[in-house]
Parts: sequence; structure tokens; C-alpha cells
Amino acid sequence: MELNNTVIVTGGAGFIGSNFVLEWLRREGGQVVTLDKLTYAGNLGNLASVDQDPRHLFVHGDICDDELVAGLFETHRPRAILHFAAESHVDRSIKNPGEFVRTNVVGTLNLLKNACAYWKSLDAEGQRQFRFLHVSTDEVYGSLGPDDPAFTELTPYAPNSPYAASKAGSDHLVRAYHHTFGLPTLTTNCSNNYGPFQFPEKLIPLVLLNALEGKALPVYGDGKNVRDWLHVQDHCSGIRCVLEKGAPGETYNIGGRSEMKNIDVVTAICDILDELRPDAKIGARRSLITYVTDRPGHDRRYAIDATRIEAELGWTPQMRFAEGIRKTIEWYLSNMSWVDGVRSGAYQEWLHQNYRGR
Ligand code: NAD
Ligand code: TYD
Repeated sequence: MELNNTVIVTGGAGFIGSNFVLEWLRREGGQVVTLDKLTYAGNLGNLASVDQDPRHLFVHGDICDDELVAGLFETHRPRAILHFAAESHVDRSIKNPGEFVRTNVVGTLNLLKNACAYWKSLDAEGQRQFRFLHVSTDEVYGSLGPDDPAFTELTPYAPNSPYAASKAGSDHLVRAYHHTFGLPTLTTNCSNNYGPFQFPEKLIPLVLLNALEGKALPVYGDGKNVRDWLHVQDHCSGIRCVLEKGAPGETYNIGGRSEMKNIDVVTAICDILDELRPDAKIGARRSLITYVTDRPGHDRRYAIDATRIEAELGWTPQMRFAEGIRKTIEWYLSNMSWVDGVRSGAYQEWLHQNYRGR
């Protein structure tokens, strides 16, 4: 039986997944089926611009639901599944690791199991075409010292947070499904993303919104932890590139070659906001910076060596941080109704839990 020109996207109502779905529908033909549980981090408002698009189908459900996932493969006969769904916030994984194992490890296993059964049922041409693309993180590699070389695909795994450990577990299962069963998998390990629709518990939108309102800007520890920032559009273009050209069973690191200390990210946001939204009552927003108690086990530095995807698949990032952060700030300023929508009671409760006593 023929494969349809359909892709299943898990976690498509979250930050990166929704950017991916919107961009895919703008660029590619065919159908998209989004499967999302709509946890606190999932928001159908992210997909509002495609809710009338006949090429998009939203399915509300859990990746751990065996029957539901089996039914999606059987009904839609996709050419690929792109797996974004995850619990994704390190601070939450410190407070509640069990949920991370359930979704990130058990949920990924359920997808692999059902994808594999579906793939085995295909004819030779269908089996050749099908892909399982697993979206993962650079955090599986652990923390770097100041002069260590950046992570390559050969860097040994050394996850340090429950989040990173659960993502590492999912990566290993993906590898095993290729090695043991021949499932044509692809894994991408990407650095920190930023851009539209990011839930405001992560550093960049949290600082941006606090700074806008004249609230304290919590910087963990000495503010010198380093992250490698990539605009979400560049991450999505990297994923499309790997899906199209990546070799089954392989992994590809995706990163922006844009390492920055947290404090430099925070001051950049302050300065752009002072320019775009000066406020005499608040004054210079840098004065809002507040050093708070560090995150337990806080990784010092992440950096991605993206040589492989650049050299073998011809991908390069398009957006430099200075341009990307300005555009991101402009997006949030123009979309305050989205912000109001996601700052629910549950969000306020999280802020209270995470920052009380820091
Ligand atoms: P997010 O938290 O914004 O979105 C996750 C989405 O998954 C939400 O829509 C949520 O409702 C959904 N979800 C959670 N549990 C589910 C379940 N059991 N069943 C179905 N849906 C479920 O996360 P994000 O930042 O968009 O990250 C997406 C993926 O990219 C994750 O796998 C993450 O590990 C990876 N990643 C993220 C970054 C980053 O900087 N944000 C960097 C590299 C890799
Ligand atoms: P975050 O956005 O949570 O991403 P990750 O932990 O996956 O890298 O945090 C990015 C960096 O910012 C990280 O070093 C922790 C730091 N951070 C703060 O200093 N203050 C904050 O309030 C938050 C949420 C993060």
C-alpha cells in the first residue's frame, strides 16, 4: 500500500513543534497530523493561524497512549513522524523527574514500537521512504569546561539533569530501534532555541517579560554559564534538512555557533527593550538584574560543533543572535494577547515555586 504525503508531528502545540508545523505548511505539500497532550507547555493558540487549513489535523492525546498512536499510523499512513513532544524544562525536572521519564522515555518507546510495527507492514518502497525523526538536545552530552572543544556526534553521553537523562534515554532507545529492528531513524541534538511562542518559564521570554514590566530579572549563580543559542527557524530548517537528506540510523548536531554567557543575553534584552519601550519609571533595565541562588547541578557550558550537518547535508543557520533576539522581542511586544493567554494560574504557581527561596 502507498504511503501518504503526510507527516505526524508530536508536540506540535509546543514552542518548537508549532514553529515547525507552521513553517512546514507554508513550504511543503501534504498533510500534517499534530499529536499533542496540551500540557501546561502546549497551546493550541500557537496553531490558530492554521485551524481552518484542511491540510492540518490536530489530535489531542498522549504519546504514551498505545491504541491512539497505533490508530494514527494505520489511518494516516504517514511518510514520517517528527517527534518533538517532551517535558522540556530543566528546573521542572528537578522538582518532578517522574513525569520526564514517563513522557520522554516511555512515550518515545511507545512511538518507536508503533512506528516499527507500521514500518514492518509496508512494502519495500514504503520501507525505504519512511523516517522516524527524533528531536533531541545537546544537554545529553553534559557540561563543558571553558576551553573544551564543542560537542560532536561522537562526544560520550553524560547527562546531568533529570531532563537530560530522560532525553538521553530516549536517544538510546531510538538508536536501539535502528540497530535491532532496522527502523529508519534520524536523531537531531540541538542547542538552546529562542524565538516566537516560547513559554515564558525559559530564560529569554522570562527575562523579556519581567523587564518589560519592571520586575526583577533572576540570574542563576554568577551569570557566567554559557549556552549556544539558535533561532527556532534555523532549528526547524535543520530538521527539514535532516529529514530530507540525513542517513538512516545517524545523528546530527544542530547549533548556531553562538555561545553566550547568560548575563550577556540578559543585558542584550535589557538594552533592546530600553530602546523599543523606554519607561521613565523603570529606568535602565539592567538595574533590574538580580543574582539568585543557582540551579542545583547547573551545567556550566554547552557548545555544539555543527560541522557534520553543515559539511554533509549543506545546512547553515541564517539568523545571527543580534538580529534574532531583536525580532523575538518585537514578536513578544506585538503578541501580548498570546502572552496573557499562557500566563494562567498554573504558570503563576510555577513562578512562585521556582523563585521562592532562591
Ligand atoms: P515545549 O515544552 O515548549 O513543548 C512540548 C510539547 O509537547 C507541548 O506542546 C506539550 O503539550 C507536548 N507534550 C508533552 N508531553 C506530552 C505527551 N505525553 N504526549 C503528547 N504531547 C506531549 O518544548 P520545546 O521547547 O518546543 O521542545 C521540543 C523538543 O525539542 C523537545 O523534545 C526538546 O527536548 C527538544 N529541544 C528543545 C530545545 C529548546 O531550547 N527548547 C533545544 C533542543 C532540543
Ligand atoms: P533555560 O532557558 O531554562 O534553558 P536550559 O536550562 O535548558 O539551558 O535556561 C538557560 C540558562 O539560563 C541556564 O543556564 C539557566 C539560566 N537561567 C537563569 O539564569 N535564570 C532563570 O530564571 C532561568 C529560567 C534560567
